[in-house]
Amino acid sequence: MPKTLIEPFRIKSVEPIRMTTREDRARLLEQAHLNVFKLRAEHVLIDWLTDSGTGAMSVDQWAAVMRGDESYAGSPSFFRFEAVVRDITGMPHVLPAHQGRAAEKVLFAAACRKGGLVPSNCHFDTTRANLESLGVEALDLVVPEGLQPALVHPFKGNIDLERVERLLAVQAGRVPFGMLTVTNNTGGGQPVSMANLREYAALLHRYGKPLILDACRFAENAMFIKLREPGYGQTDIKHIAQEMFSHADGATMSAKKDGLVNIGGFIALRDDAWLERLQQLLVLWEGFPTYGGLAGRDLDAMAVGLVEGMQEDYLRYRLRTAEYLGEKLDALGIGYVKPTGGHAVYIDARTVLPKMPVRHYPAWALCNALYLGGGIRGVEVGSVMFGRQLDDGTETFHSMELLRLAFPRRAYTQSHFDYAAEVIGEVKDEADAIRGVRIVRQSKTLRHYTCECEWV
Ligand SMILES: Cc1ncc(COP(=O)(O)O)c(C=O)c1O
Repeated sequence: MPKTLIEPFRIKSVEPIRMTTREDRARLLEQAHLNVFKLRAEHVLIDWLTDSGTGAMSVDQWAAVMRGDESYAGSPSFFRFEAVVRDITGMPHVLPAHQGRAAEKVLFAAACRKGGLVPSNCHFDTTRANLESLGVEALDLVVPEGLQPALVHPFKGNIDLERVERLLAVQAGRVPFGMLTVTNNTGGGQPVSMANLREYAALLHRYGKPLILDACRFAENAMFIKLREPGYGQTDIKHIAQEMFSHADGATMSAKKDGLVNIGGFIALRDDAWLERLQQLLVLWEGFPTYGGLAGRDLDAMAVGLVEGMQEDYLRYRLRTAEYLGEKLDALGIGYVKPTGGHAVYIDARTVLPKMPVRHYPAWALCNALYLGGGIRGVEVGSVMFGRQLDDGTETFHSMELLRLAFPRRAYTQSHFDYAAEVIGEVKDEADAIRGVRIVRQSKTLRHYTCECEWV
């Protein structure tokens, strides 16, 4: 058997990407106020800003798009979508939403009250912001291993059950439900084991609290379980996914990840306690419950994508691409969150810029350096994203300074990864010349999307 793991697809439609010069990029980055979110995508060569909604759809998904029925109410597209989600999650109530954060907003508004507290392994930034905007505390309780980038552990996305237990013992009254993000995006795309998921659910249930999965990357998580957790090596991905959902009482999902679509999401629920309120809010903010802010064609594309996203040869290739870049970083002596996660590689910026003070935002600085060096766009997951400016003008900082390179699904080939590794190596060789930034304009929440910076 040849050892090379190839992309399990061939390309039928191509999208040109174009090189810019270093001088161009220096000018463009200045125009973008040193914030890569403000760049035009056409000025980016390799766009690894996010894996969300950026993947390539398959021929079957495009065929499904043509089948889409655009009826306002009761579209057959909805029922095809609903059947797939019910099959995977085992949950009877399925409400479409236009993307993950919309699903979160509707669910949280229906189920949370001011003063509440929601534990998770790590809340994604929009999840946290949606909770906090309702006056609800979003508490991250990932296991200590999950906060040590260099430490190798098979399930660094696990939640710390002892801390959850201590929390519930004294503050259960504030907790409307517990959440769990699979895989744990903010913590490095790390998976959660089935054992952890099961025990967390049991613990919550003992206190009468439901478990809500943030299920964006449930298929990648299921593949990690297959590869790493004893007893699952022979189980197919769909069954692993079904078992994962069987422990949960509800889920929010951005289908822009493992649903392999460019737009879409949903809420799934096992019982109907919150259903009426949810449906009212869905109508108000997203649309009638059989389309939820989406076109019929989007629902059909999701129905196909959710199934394709569980194909094992695809997932094997998918996880291998991240691992491949990780091996190249090892060879360059660059630290990253180990082992590599499902959808991204998270470079530990402190290993490239050990002397840069955190107040100069090393991960943000490295992100800019990669764009300048080779037109690669990643995203900072560090103190710009998770720190904040307090009312007295002082700053809080994040525990890790990571640069996330997130891989759109089925969009880049091995030579793109080889090129990226070369650029990263060159940037590291010139690390002394990398400049930090200061933030000169920022919003109160989610400041990384829009902040403006200048060189220190
Ligand atoms: C774990 C997680 N939850 C929620 C979201 C929000 O999804 P969306 O971008 O579709 O609103 C994301 C998006 O990246 C995510 O990674």
